[in-house]
Amino acid sequence: MPKIKELECSRCKATVSAETPQTVCPKCAGSFYVRYDFSGFRGVEHRMRISEKTPGASAGMWRYRSVLPEVQPVTLGEGWTPMLRSKRYPNVVVKEEGANPTGSFKARGLALAVTMAKHYQLKKLAVPSAGNAAGALAAYAAAAGIEANIFMPKDVPFANYVEAKMYGANITLVDGLISDCGRIVAERKEKEGWFDISTLKEPFRIEGKKTMGYELVEQLGWEYPDAVFYPTGGGVGLIGMWKAFAEMEELGWVKPGKRPKMIAVQSSGCAPMVRAFEEHASASKMWENAATFAAGLRVPKPYGDYLMLEILKESEGVALAFPDSVILASLQDWAKNEGIFLSPEGATATAAYDHLLKTRFLKPADRVVLFNTGAGLKYTDVTAEAAGILRN
Ligand SMILES: Cc1ncc(COP(=O)(O)O)c(C=O)c1O
Ligand SMILES: [Zn+2]
Repeated sequence: MPKIKELECSRCKATVSAETPQTVCPKCAGSFYVRYDFSGFRGVEHRMRISEKTPGASAGMWRYRSVLPEVQPVTLGEGWTPMLRSKRYPNVVVKEEGANPTGSFKARGLALAVTMAKHYQLKKLAVPSAGNAAGALAAYAAAAGIEANIFMPKDVPFANYVEAKMYGANITLVDGLISDCGRIVAERKEKEGWFDISTLKEPFRIEGKKTMGYELVEQLGWEYPDAVFYPTGGGVGLIGMWKAFAEMEELGWVKPGKRPKMIAVQSSGCAPMVRAFEEHASASKMWENAATFAAGLRVPKPYGDYLMLEILKESEGVALAFPDSVILASLQDWAKNEGIFLSPEGATATAAYDHLLKTRFLKPADRVVLFNTGAGLKYTDVTAEAAGILRN
């Protein structure tokens, strides 16, 4: 495993040591990127070693331990999720992140964050969450024997509440959104002795999420697809995958050149990134009255907006939003015609794919990865309500 060289601010490039736990850049409050000493891991021969059988704690996303911190993992089997080929669109695969522990891709980021928290001997963690991060933190904290303090909107999908409860987390349901939850954590953390592992305010959730980038490239035979569709809330996955692509090029594991177009998808009920992208802004503005059944996308002001906007531009991608009715129609379409029960967030990606084919932004021959970031089954209450399904 590589040694962490330093943490580097994504905004002002200031560096700090990772010997002690860090949050954001002390100079400019930018998010940190973890930088490694990759000497000794460069070249295709090291990439080959990953593809060899990786038993025990190295399974799942830990097969990429050569690009992750040198610590003992807290793992529940996260990562190495299926790539499901569409029956109707031969060049489309769905990255089924619902197969992760706790049924969402949040497992990857929280596995890494809790692994590092254990390494640093932190005792109490706190997180504001749209729902799935709460469930994932609760699970990994339970596995690590660390206290989890969770703040989430009172109308999160019921599964998120039940799972966090079962895992024994301290839960506060807030009459508001993740931004309100974040404010409460920020106000109370010092007094309570909590370490804040909010999206992009802690360096290691990106490291967990970046494994999605390594994974999809490996699963496509170490080649980039033409486009990656990412249901975007706080944006950690988008930012993490882009970091992974840069690292893979630095390592000589893929040919530099044509990285995929990154497509950020949101609901029209909460689309701060789409608005900022369309206005060619360098940051987003708070989205008022955010409302959508794609609960994970209810992030009215993402902390890493500036990073996402840079990535969208650099990748020649686009940000798109669709009304819940269109998202629901796509969810039903994929369930009936492909046998895949998407989360509302995942169905935002499939809706966006249809749209970009119609507008010819993409061709049917383009190789595309659509992220289903969570299992449809976690959303039976909100999806049933949106679809008007009642048990008579
Ligand atoms: C299922 C699902 N998809 C997408 C998102 C958005 O993820 P991110 O904050 O990494 O953009 C979330 C966040 O809660 C989620 O739960
Ligand atoms: Zn900085």
